[in-house]
Amino acid sequence: MIIGSITEDKKIEKRVAITPEIVKKYKSLGLEIYLCKDYATHLGYNDEQYKSEGANILNSNDEVLSNSNVIAQMNILTDDNLNKLRSKQIFIGILNPYNNKEKLKEIIKKNITCFSMELLPRITRAQSMDVLSSQANLAGYKAVVDSFAYYQRAIPMMMTAAGTISAAKVLVVGAGVAGLQAIATAKRLGAIVFATDVRSASKEQVESLGGKFLTVEGAENLETEGGYAKETSEDFKKKQEDLLRETLKKIDIVICTALIPGKKAPLIIKKEMINDMQNGSIIYDLAASQGGNAELTEVNKIINNNGVKIMGEGNILNNLPVSASNLYSKNIFNFIVNLFNKEKKIFEINLDDEIIEKTMVK
Ligand code: NAI
Repeated sequence: MIIGSITEDKKIEKRVAITPEIVKKYKSLGLEIYLCKDYATHLGYNDEQYKSEGANILNSNDEVLSNSNVIAQMNILTDDNLNKLRSKQIFIGILNPYNNKEKLKEIIKKNITCFSMELLPRITRAQSMDVLSSQANLAGYKAVVDSFAYYQRAIPMMMTAAGTISAAKVLVVGAGVAGLQAIATAKRLGAIVFATDVRSASKEQVESLGGKFLTVEGAENLETEGGYAKETSEDFKKKQEDLLRETLKKIDIVICTALIPGKKAPLIIKKEMINDMQNGSIIYDLAASQGGNAELTEVNKIINNNGVKIMGEGNILNNLPVSASNLYSKNIFNFIVNLFNKEKKIFEINLDDEIIEKTMVK
């Protein structure tokens, strides 16, 4: 049985699904690895390194796609490459099934089994496969580091003979995986951190990291059974806006991470609120590619609105692709191990397994 992977358009996606380190783990299960030439040279992993771990380097993407039983990628393939997949293959990645419904329908019709990793249930057994957590954790960290690097002042309080510098104030909007890592990172670097979320459970988590939780008064807990956020009512939006409008006037850096699975990101920071912020402040919008939490966000642009910079990073994980690939490749390996029947040496689609059933695109 063969696991194959090809390089994606490096201008859009630098991460890869198979790192050299993980190749020997596949080999120890009796699985073969097929990769295209120069698969991860851009990450400092050359073909020789992959070969020394036991991978086969093929000359073209076509050879990899047509000879592999399982294709493991980061994202959905280009239309051209999707057309090369054939019956009985398994295709795994972060396939964005909400936006790629039609494309996925077409390939499923060809008897190709697709697994979209963002559909993984958040149960204990699936934690080692949870790509959303592994990637969001890095994203939260990197958003803080990148926004702090762009900020033109120091972050921690400093008492010097020349005078005192006060600590920067950071607001994290959305305290899920990315938000909690952003809080922890900002605290470590000396900022005063505030955070808000629609799920009541996040209050305790924010406080345990030393952040101050901003509660929208009188609001119900907007958490689904799966632990995700529900969409907010007009009444909630108004109360949240009132709370944040005042807070934002004193905040130096905002890290936006609020998302609702399968929906456009909630619009939380309106233009008028940005107009009231201090000159030199930064909004780093991690939700940019899902529409943004701030009204002025534009993907992959830095907008300057009267001295307030709004940074809309499209794929922040491209700023630390080696760490992101290392974690992602482990997540994918753990998912594939769960699909693989070691005795029969075949991949088994056991729909009684919640992980397989929920992740499979239907
Ligand atoms: P996410 O990426 O979907 O959203 C990020 C955060 O934004 C969430 O905390 C959400 O509540 C918040 N949010 C959404 N709309 C908002 C609004 N209008 N205003 C303010 N905040 C808003 O969520 P993520 O990071 O994937 O985490 C979702 C849940 O899953 C959390 O409860 C987390 O603890 C849980 N989780 C459980 C795992 C497990 O294995 N059991 C693993 C990872 C996460």
